[in-house]
Amino acid sequence: MVPIVWPEKFPILETHRLLLRQVSAADEQGLFQSYSDPVVMKYLSTPLDNRDAVQGVLEDYIQGFAEGNSLIWTISVKQTRMFAGTAGFEEFSFLDGKADLGFTLLRSHQGNGYMTEALLKILSFGFNAMNINRIQATVVPENTSSIKLLERLGFSKEGHMKKSVFFNGNYHDELIFALLNSGKHRV
Ligand SMILES: CC(C)(COP(=O)(O)OP(=O)(O)OC[C@H]1O[C@@H](n2cnc3c(N)ncnc32)[C@H](O)[C@@H]1OP(=O)(O)O)[C@@H](O)C(=O)NCCC(=O)NCCS
Repeated sequence: MVPIVWPEKFPILETHRLLLRQVSAADEQGLFQSYSDPVVMKYLSTPLDNRDAVQGVLEDYIQGFAEGNSLIWTISVKQTRMFAGTAGFEEFSFLDGKADLGFTLLRSHQGNGYMTEALLKILSFGFNAMNINRIQATVVPENTSSIKLLERLGFSKEGHMKKSVFFNGNYHDELIFALLNSGKHRV
């Protein structure tokens, strides 16, 4: 097995329209707007309802990188410098060369191809710079925009897990999607 390479410094990535950088205190408002929006959170988890919870998420992201547990980027639009969302690896299994992908865009920034653009870069970084072997994502079956996005990026559906996650007062099924390192993802 080729071990996962953890970046020494937080990796700043750039695409045609986007800058992907580490989350900072300046993103608190954007994070709150995103994670408290019931439409954005509909298939993800119970929306956050206070600033302290968002502060906790922000600290988790910063600490996650420092401790080698997660690698989450803030996505900002180069032209406006506006916060658009977050994406990255929420969890790693180092022994298995595996990472779990997560992504969220503000409602106002959806429908522009931003997440496809950001994830192409993130997947390329994960496979090529970090040597991740398998990147997986779980989504509830009703989350059609996320499923479309994953399929557009080449992920394959591998299974259906029943009542796998609890949020908004109910258990929900989850589909599992994965993409393997084929050596062909270079952006
Ligand atoms: C999942 C999510 C990020 C997808 O957002 P999105 O805007 O559909 O994805 P993209 O940014 O890649 O944009 C693709 C859409 O923009 C359109 N588009 C417009 N201009 C475009 C351009 N210049 N380039 C590419 N696509 C463009 C595409 O046609 C596509 O629309 P379609 O799906 O109707 O065909 C968003 O729905 C979201 O944040 N959901 C809530 C969070 C969530 O559930 N996360 C899943 C966690 S597992």
